[in-house]
Amino acid sequence: MKAIRFHQYGGPEQLVLDDVATPGIRANEVLVRIHAASVNPADFKFRAGWFRDFVNLALPFIPGADFSGTVEKVGSQVDDFKPGDDVFGMRDVQAGGSYAQYIAVSSDAIALKPKHLSHAQAAAVPLAALTAWSALFDHAQLKQGQRILIHAASGGVGTYAVQLAKLAGAEVIATTSTPNVDLVRSLGADQVIDYRLVDFASVVRDVDVVLDALGGEGQAKSMSTLRQNGLIVTLQPPGVDAALAQQMQVRTALVAVCANGTRTAELAALLDKGTLKPVIDQQFPLADAAQAHVRSESGRTRGKIVLTMDQEPE
Ligand SMILES: NC(=O)c1ccc[n+]([C@@H]2O[C@H](COP(=O)([O-])OP(=O)(O)OC[C@H]3O[C@@H](n4cnc5c(N)ncnc54)[C@H](OP(=O)(O)O)[C@@H]3O)[C@@H](O)[C@H]2O)c1
Repeated sequence: MKAIRFHQYGGPEQLVLDDVATPGIRANEVLVRIHAASVNPADFKFRAGWFRDFVNLALPFIPGADFSGTVEKVGSQVDDFKPGDDVFGMRDVQAGGSYAQYIAVSSDAIALKPKHLSHAQAAAVPLAALTAWSALFDHAQLKQGQRILIHAASGGVGTYAVQLAKLAGAEVIATTSTPNVDLVRSLGADQVIDYRLVDFASVVRDVDVVLDALGGEGQAKSMSTLRQNGLIVTLQPPGVDAALAQQMQVRTALVAVCANGTRTAELAALLDKGTLKPVIDQQFPLADAAQAHVRSESGRTRGKIVLTMDQEPE
């Protein structure tokens, strides 16, 4: 099969289209013929070697976590999927494997693809939407009437977080920049702050939850917008400065997204109803994965970047 791999850490030019063996499956796995995969910022971070001191990738490595495709084969213990089923899901990012024509994946990490979505749209969902769900509901237990500040609301995670928070009945304050203000409003945000024009910390007070996608100096400012004992949930390891949080009398949490087929099926139901929608930034053919990484590394992605597998499998 064709797959994008990097043989050493480095820039986007390290991504090359290789011929590799189609993966075999274990008893609890399915083999999926991938039609589309999504690009997440973790992919370029792994490629560039950001995590090389903590995560030992076996090189050459096929990047990519999430995908949408068709079941080709099932293992002997799999009884909830069959060949021909259209499915979507993710493997953990350090396992990689979705920038390829086929992937072997545990059957408990996938769900039936929403019928009304294309494979490109479905591939844009799992990692980012599961991250948003985990932040909002596992960590923050977000409830109707609570107020949440969502940073990077126009990005992969943010576009789902705004929609899921509104579905939960929360009041959403969101940050983005001028070209994306209308998009974020259309997703349901009650108040959109253009961070290029306004310092959010000067206008936001007493929120229950902050979703921090960006880390850095914005974390301290974000904590100043929380009510006493409010929660800042960050997506950026190693998490929020605990001493500072204690001093500011706020709580902290760090998201580590995991594959979850049951929850992916719950997302599928919302997507089929049309109450949750993916936003696609750009699509690239698999062979142009390097260009997709350049786009992702720009930090300007609106929603999700998607790779499509346009070659016929061998
Ligand atoms: N811990 C985990 O499990 C986990 C899971 C998923 C993602 N992550 C991490 O979370 C981060 C966000 O992921 P993502 O997929 O949402 O990234 P993304 O799609 O690349 O985010 C891009 C968006 O960020 C916005 N942005 C950039 N600077 C901003 C600022 N100062 N204020 C407000 N918005 C800003 C951009 O809007 P403008 O163009 O308008 O600036 C753009 O729409 C990444 O670092 C990713 O690695 C962690």
